[in-house]
Amino acid sequence: MNKPGIVIARAVFPQVIERLAQHFEVLSNQDDNLWSPAELAAKSQGRVGLFCTASERVDAALLQACPTLRICANMAVGYNNFDLDAMTACGVLATNAPGVLTETTADFGFALLMATARRVCESEHFLRAGHWTSWRYDLFAGTDIHGSTLGILGMGRIGQGIARRGAHGFGMRVIYHNRSRLDQATEAACGASYVDKNELLAMADHLVLVLPYSAQSHHSIGTAELARMKPTATLINIARGGIVDDAALALALQQGRLAGAGLDVFEGEPAVHPGLLGASRVVLTPHIASASVPTRLAMADLAADNLIGFLVRGEALTALNPRAVATGSAPG
Ligand code: GLV
Repeated sequence: MNKPGIVIARAVFPQVIERLAQHFEVLSNQDDNLWSPAELAAKSQGRVGLFCTASERVDAALLQACPTLRICANMAVGYNNFDLDAMTACGVLATNAPGVLTETTADFGFALLMATARRVCESEHFLRAGHWTSWRYDLFAGTDIHGSTLGILGMGRIGQGIARRGAHGFGMRVIYHNRSRLDQATEAACGASYVDKNELLAMADHLVLVLPYSAQSHHSIGTAELARMKPTATLINIARGGIVDDAALALALQQGRLAGAGLDVFEGEPAVHPGLLGASRVVLTPHIASASVPTRLAMADLAADNLIGFLVRGEALTALNPRAVATGSAPG
């Protein structure tokens, strides 16, 4: 009997492809060519599953072009590349990869915070360029981390991981804002106190953004919010491009209205706003917050487990829209 077909939209660990190939006829993209939406639709023709990353948009146009698709498994916890309403309307299951990247991503948030506050990258470039001729009292003097106030916007699993690191590892005062307040026991475990957004902006010495991207969270940090922050503060974005108005941030940095920024995600990435590329007190990384080898493998394995679970056994592990398939469209 022919195996059902799936498509893997980006390069991925070979062992994950081998595992999927035990159940499916796999079309993979190990050359990692970036497929246009039309190419993705062409490659997905007649296939029942799509293994994708946050770079592939799954919307009504793709689903209409590929009526055989039954599940799209994201190798990412964020899923703003999915039009969930369209997927549900078409009876297509959406899955993401939560949990497995929490601690690795929280580690990276902290790494970016520390690199920004203590000017690690600027000073390294200075040294490599041969500019270091002598010790100086204020050479790359930055801001302290221990004893400072850590603000977190978005307090899901990753935000909580960052809070724990700040409160328990660095003796920081941790404040957060979130759509809903955490219960007391979780706040205590994180060493974090709830404040409103304006208070968060005004009080944080280091503000870390970890909220999901949506139309509602678009430009959560723009000109008005930046103006509320301390001029000595640092801003860290490990959430998604579009949460920050990058043009407003570039201007604020240029005008010295903020001490620095650590950015792993950008509006319109992989393009980066020229004002950020040109700014000195900025640490820029190419969307790698979850990129440790074990964690990326765990994310890929979870996406594969979702495909196998749903298409072979009828049950995915981390479904985002279970009602898309709850009404009788069991896997064939
Ligand atoms: C990475 O950005 C993810 O959402 O997993």
